[in-house]
Formats: sequence, C-alpha cells, structure tokens
Amino acid sequence: MSGRFITFEGIDGAGKSTHIESVAQHLRRHGVELVQTREPGGTPLAESLRALFLHQDMDGLTEALLVFAARRDHVQRVIAPALALGQTVLCDRFTDASFAYQGGGRGMDWQVLATLEQWVQQGRQPDLTFWFDVDPALAAQRRAQARDADRLEQLDLEFFARVRAAYRRRAESAPGRIVRIDASDTIDGVATQIRAELERRGW
Ligand code: TYD
Repeated sequence: MSGRFITFEGIDGAGKSTHIESVAQHLRRHGVELVQTREPGGTPLAESLRALFLHQDMDGLTEALLVFAARRDHVQRVIAPALALGQTVLCDRFTDASFAYQGGGRGMDWQVLATLEQWVQQGRQPDLTFWFDVDPALAAQRRAQARDADRLEQLDLEFFARVRAAYRRRAESAPGRIVRIDASDTIDGVATQIRAELERRGW
C-alpha cells in the first residue's frame, strides 16, 4: 500500500501556499487521509536547519547541503512512513526548489544537485508536482502586499527569472509529474486549474 506524494512549487509570491489548503480540503472531502508538511522543514531537525538556511548568509553549495540534509531527515521520518501507511503527503516545496533556487538562482552545478537528489531520495519522486508559474514582477508585487520579506525573498527580479527558468527546465524533463499552473490567474481560476488536474487523474 502506498499513498500519493504531491508537491507544490514556484517562485516566492506565486501563491502556492493559498492553494495547498484548498487541495487539502478537496482531498479530505473525498476521504483521503492526509499529511501536510513543508520544506525546508517538516521535522524538528529540519526546522532547525530551515531557520539557519533562511536567516544566515551562505554560498550556494552550503545552501544545497543544508536543504538536502533537512530533506533526508524529512523523507526518512515523515514522508516515507506516511506513504507506506497509504497516506497522501502534501508538501510545500521539495527537490525541484533546490534545482530552481540553488541551481538556477545560485548557479550550483546541476549534476551535483542530481547526485544529492539520488543520495537522499534513492529514486523516490513525487507522484505529482504543481508548479505555480508566474512572472517575477507580478510575484514581487504580491510579496510586497503580503508580508515582510525573508532573506531569499529580498533577491532581485533577475534572480527570480533564473529560478523560474530552472523550474521550466525541470518541468520539461518530467512532463508526466510536473503540471504547470498559470499562477497569474485569479485565486478561483488557479483553484479550477488544480481541481481539473486532480479530477483528470481521478484523485
Ligand atoms: P517558502 O515556501 O517560500 O516559505 P514561506 O512561504 O514560509 O516564506 O520557502 C522558503 C524559501 O526557501 C523560499 O525562498 C525557497 C527556498 N528554498 C530553497 O532555496 N531551496 C530548497 O530546496 C527549498 C525547499 C526552499
């Protein structure tokens, strides 16, 4: 018995956090047993690493090592056991974010990231990834309205354009898994796109 592993990705301000909750409600209504979690984070150790990651200055490789260390703990303690019990796991960001931010944003070598991915996940991938794709300028507007920025959110439009391009590259390499959502749409419009994909899969 194995549950479904669904992840949510996109640049900061794409609006994914709003929609994780609506996916959770939709699945619960269909009687699905859920675990909701996030990265970096999801375990006490990984949450400690998240705090370091978000608030200390460091180079791209250090970032990658920290997020994959956090991910290792998260996969072992939370994600794999839940899936083994047949539960569905909704995760706010996962490895595509490392390729996007550390790879695209920070310029880390793609192959090094692929090696870390293989070490940490040993072939396990999400069953479905919603990629909330939006123009960096619109995302910046949304961030400015929403809240105070953390370290990574203060980065410039060029950085987020590289992150977006790296998400696109990942999406092109895994078209069956990564579903692009037009996140410039209204909240209702985005929710409709997501529900259509879940229904298409009979979830
Ligand atoms: P985010 O989901 O934006 O948290 P919040 O909505 O609470 O602000 O994630 C925090 C930041 O971490 C975000 O800027 C992306 C970054 N990140 C990476 O750089 N690499 C990774 O592997 C992950 C999972 C996140």
